[in-house]
Amino acid sequence: MAIYLNIMADVKTEIADCAADMDRHLDRLLGPAGPNGPGLAPERLVAAMRHGTLNGGKRLRPLLVRQSAAIFGLSPNATLCASAAVELVHCYSLIHDDLPAMDDDDTRRGKPSVHVAFDQATAILAGDALLTLAFHVLAKSDCHDDAGIRTALVLELAAGAGAGGMAGGQMRDLEGENKSLAEPDITTMQAMKTGALIRASVRMGALLGGATAEELSALTAYGEAAGRAFQIADDILDETATPQRMGKATGKDAARKKPTLVARIGMDTAKRRLGENVHNAISALTLFSTGADGLRATARYFATREF
Ligand code: IPE
Ligand code: IPE
Ligand code: MG
Ligand code: MG
Ligand code: MG
Repeated sequence: MAIYLNIMADVKTEIADCAADMDRHLDRLLGPAGPNGPGLAPERLVAAMRHGTLNGGKRLRPLLVRQSAAIFGLSPNATLCASAAVELVHCYSLIHDDLPAMDDDDTRRGKPSVHVAFDQATAILAGDALLTLAFHVLAKSDCHDDAGIRTALVLELAAGAGAGGMAGGQMRDLEGENKSLAEPDITTMQAMKTGALIRASVRMGALLGGATAEELSALTAYGEAAGRAFQIADDILDETATPQRMGKATGKDAARKKPTLVARIGMDTAKRRLGENVHNAISALTLFSTGADGLRATARYFATREF
């Protein structure tokens, strides 16, 4: 028990460190020299991008990038651009997820959602610009010396974010509202809307680290199981946690008749599935010794997190 509590304390410290690094880096990326092109980025658009990004996210996807890369001896600094790119895509996905045309949520990370603080058109454009910035960050030469690795990172993030990944999963989620989807269909939808970016995060860390095919495949299995666990926990917390603790509305999945596992198989079985996925995630790491302890702790944290 004491060892377990220590592991949880360690992961919380690691989350806080990673979030602080990420906040600083994202602040720079969205600063005065940041998202300009042939023209200057409009102030209102940059303000909305900053509102949707620098607002207290847990930065768990960056954490996964750095923990995966740590297996191969990479420092957190060496993972900053890949971590930032995934987090920028994640923040864009949340801004759009909250729009009235999607989940219609007014609060995110304890603050008004971007479309509430600004307006819907600005929120759509802020999401568009964050998504674009993510790929800009990866393509720039200061991201990695090796252009081949930069291209691999771009492809990985594109696969995770696109129609066969997060965006496609969001489509399936909306199509599933008011329907009683079978468990495998819900699992597929979750693997796409949430799992795909988590999988991409772990794989991007592995690509930076020069993983072998066998190592990449083990880390992919970890990412997929951890991704399933993460969304099941989100759905459980939507029923059991308070909006204050979550920083977003709760009880909203049942209200909107969302296709969640909690609704489909009940709370107890959903909790069992969460435990099974955490177990599978950790089992996928047998190839690695203590270098993968960060990923192991994060998988356990996914099952115990309170917000
Ligand atoms: C919320 O993700 C959306 C889901 C994919 C379930 P997080 O719980 O990681 O949200 P932030 O980034 O910490 O706000
Ligand atoms: C969001 O799932 C997944 C995304 C791709 C953004 P949810 O709709 O359950 O996330 P929350 O509960 O609003 O954070
Ligand atoms: Mg949603
Ligand atoms: Mg939502
Ligand atoms: Mg949710």
